[in-house]
Amino acid sequence: MPKPLRIAVLASGRGSNLAALLAARDHHALAIEPVLVASDKAHAGALQLAEAAGIPSLHLNPRRYDNRRDFDIDLFTRIGDSGAQLIVLAGFMRILDGDALRPWVGRMINIHPSLLPKYRGLHTHRRALEAGDAEHGASVHYVTAELDGGPVIAQARIAVLPDDNEHTLAQRLLIQEHRLLPAVVSALAEQRLALAGADTVMWDGTPLQAPLRLEDGLLERGARDE
Ligand code: GRF
Repeated sequence: MPKPLRIAVLASGRGSNLAALLAARDHHALAIEPVLVASDKAHAGALQLAEAAGIPSLHLNPRRYDNRRDFDIDLFTRIGDSGAQLIVLAGFMRILDGDALRPWVGRMINIHPSLLPKYRGLHTHRRALEAGDAEHGASVHYVTAELDGGPVIAQARIAVLPDDNEHTLAQRLLIQEHRLLPAVVSALAEQRLALAGADTVMWDGTPLQAPLRLEDGLLERGARDE
């Protein structure tokens, strides 16, 4: 096992992806030390989970700041103070200021419920259904100033079934998200992943031509033409 990677998790909602990370850690499948869970929502389930797990938690109220930039600078300062080596955005529903996040580029990832670059932003399941997609999925990517636009590290795919609705699709995909995120964080902890330059993801020392694919719980190189 490598030395545990100190992570901060940012979440606005229920925190099931945070729970997946903690479960993987508890099963000795993921060498992380969560040093902070922070939220913009006082009642986020993620904060409650953190408190129950004995992880330092932080609620910052955006209304107490003059603007987005001030909020983000305070948030990232506190994350820096926590000693985090990696920031994981797991359902953090805020757009981040480009200047504030810049020092963390290459050390901050986000999980997004679509096969990026498809469907950045909200309502991804609905949009996949409306487009008649045969396949849907989730992506983990490095965070840059462009919303849901940073280099994609890995994806998990599911088939869209004929009788799927937004809810069933989201539910089936969430199961995959809970495998994908720990797998990527684990690869980061093992130093198998890095961001080179602005947009090249390095995997085991060589550039990825396409996002990694999650297959049977393991990350594998994808084909370039997928
Ligand atoms: C997930 O679907 C994630 O992909 C998206 O927001 C949702 C968060 O769910 N960014 P949870 O709070 O981790 O349960």
